Amino acid sequence: MTLTLSYSNPSLKGTIQVPGDKSISHRAIMFGSMAAGTTTVEGFLLGDDCLSTISCFRKLGVDIELTGKSVTIKSAGEESWQEPSEVLDTGNSGTTTRLMLGLLAGTSFHSVMAGDESIAKRPMKRIINPLREMGADIRGRQDGQYTPLAIQGTKLQAINYTLPVASAQVKSAILLAALKAEGKTVITEPVPTRDHTEIMLEHFGATLTKRNDGAIELEGGQKLKAAHVQVPGDISSAAFMIGAALITEQSEVLLTNVGSNPTRTGILDVIKQMGADVDWTERAVEGEPSADLTIRSSKLKGIEIGGELIPRLIDEIPLIALIATQAHGTTIIKDAEELRVKETDRIAAVVAELSKMGADITATDDGMVINGPTALNGADMKTYGDHRLGMMAAVAALAAEGEVHIDDPDCIAVSFPNFVEQMNSLIN
Ligand code: S3P
Repeated sequence: MTLTLSYSNPSLKGTIQVPGDKSISHRAIMFGSMAAGTTTVEGFLLGDDCLSTISCFRKLGVDIELTGKSVTIKSAGEESWQEPSEVLDTGNSGTTTRLMLGLLAGTSFHSVMAGDESIAKRPMKRIINPLREMGADIRGRQDGQYTPLAIQGTKLQAINYTLPVASAQVKSAILLAALKAEGKTVITEPVPTRDHTEIMLEHFGATLTKRNDGAIELEGGQKLKAAHVQVPGDISSAAFMIGAALITEQSEVLLTNVGSNPTRTGILDVIKQMGADVDWTERAVEGEPSADLTIRSSKLKGIEIGGELIPRLIDEIPLIALIATQAHGTTIIKDAEELRVKETDRIAAVVAELSKMGADITATDDGMVINGPTALNGADMKTYGDHRLGMMAAVAALAAEGEVHIDDPDCIAVSFPNFVEQMNSLIN
């Protein structure tokens, strides 16, 4: 069903608690299912992706109870997982598919994983190659590049591995497999990526070492202990509210308890450099850090974004491209070729959709170039089934003259259920 949005000089005011962090919510379910005992999770993201993770672990026999945003996981440890009699459906979730490969590779049973149309196009060899080096037996289309994937659990050996791409999903899948492997695994990243897996491993009682050269060492055979996980708000969801406040007139929005792990806060560095009016107050740290953020309408300028910053804001690039259309000057985004293999090709999709609205935006091999400011007009926007393209279109509607039609707004529920209602609730 198409969603129509039309605004006339909107101004956003008020306070929002954005939903729980997607990356941390997935990991809380996985770690709680691995650990013997009762794990409790608060602030869990009730997005479709994280619900896919819950459904997969239930099929492995783990007792998972969901009450509002609280989750209780009762597990007798991963040795108690049972061979699933059905396909594990990972929906639209790359994180579920990739991290679970690392977990399923070292079991003693057979399992099959498959997701939706988008998952079927996403590269899996980046995970399967290192897991095969560890001894994993995984098969799929094109030698395991694409789902459905069949995993025959087996004994794993530790590896010494340098990631060919900056990917927290690859790093995490290897770390999870390494927990069960024989020997010490050493992982080196080309550029630091989000470290939620490392933080949560320690929180559940595992020991890992971060070497001075940035490499991570993990000794195999470690057992996790059940824990309590407090999930902060997702900065990748907050980004769309930040964008909404920045590009509208006379707006001031308070976003409470937003995750502020430094491996994720590239968006804040970018908007500050673009000239945004933003205040940031850190809360007390318990596990993952979080902060309260006040954001006001701002006159923005174009900047260049690339290098080590990219993994710290990879999911925010559709939103950054949108705000760059309203900034004075040229914004260049480079070193972001990973966008080509996200939920959709986000370079092609962002350029196609913002161009329809009148933006001056050009695709490059590894990013895009945006000249601003340009007035935006109403248009028929496609989401490509990608939640972040859907939210980008909804925020763009705030600045557009005329009606914006969004073809598949339901996909937004992957990471931010009720996003449009929440955004509209701030408009006075
Ligand atoms: C994620 C890692 C990133 C990110 C994704 C979530 C994670 O993917 O884009 O939304 O939870 O580890 P890559 O590892 O492919 O960069």
